[in-house]
Amino acid sequence: MNVKADNPDGKTAIGVLASGRGTNLQAVIDATASGELPARVTVVLSDNEDAFALERARRAGVQALHIPPGRFRTKLEPEIERRYVEALIDRGVDLVLLAGFMRVLHGDFLRAFPDRIMNIHPSLLPSFPGLNAQKQAWDYGVKVAGCTVHLVNDTVDGGAIILQRAVQVMEDDTPDTLAARILKEEHRCYVDAVGLFCRGRLKIEGRRVRVLPASPSA
Ligand code: GRF
Repeated sequence: MNVKADNPDGKTAIGVLASGRGTNLQAVIDATASGELPARVTVVLSDNEDAFALERARRAGVQALHIPPGRFRTKLEPEIERRYVEALIDRGVDLVLLAGFMRVLHGDFLRAFPDRIMNIHPSLLPSFPGLNAQKQAWDYGVKVAGCTVHLVNDTVDGGAIILQRAVQVMEDDTPDTLAARILKEEHRCYVDAVGLFCRGRLKIEGRRVRVLPASPSA
């Protein structure tokens, strides 16, 4: 991937999938509003009607759609997954961000946005994939924890790594205090990764995502 969006306004169109409170979504919205990101969030999709992420989108003037997930607990029904893809394609989305989206995406979705789906995970992958990663890390007794932005492939939390940020685990941490410290880094890390995408600075070489130098004019 060495992508730079070709939208008429020169901005990358972002679609976000979120199931919950949406603080990472908010960080991205704020970075588009401040001009830090040459991007706009075009649509937010959620499987959860009550997701505060939907409310954050509305407050920012971003279209917010609840698309019920169907009968499965950890994935979307195939027909419904197609509706998610259509909703994103119809709005000209260049980059899909998973921001606390609690369902696994399948082949058709991944093929619709090759190398254009990112996820943020609250651990230093490949350690602690899956749910409750911060608690997994704390329970394990690691001294350094962190977060990872990665491309999404067909393995849960297994795609090529774009950026990572580390945080120290303190002696008096609880899983909650550790998660809060990681979350602050997540917001920074996600915005930075999206910025690299928007500026055409990510190049995929197998499992390695190279960050290209900034062009002198940038
Ligand atoms: C974050 O910890 C993210 O890493 C994980 O889900 C959580 C979502 O939090 N995938 P928020 O909804 O962005 O506040």
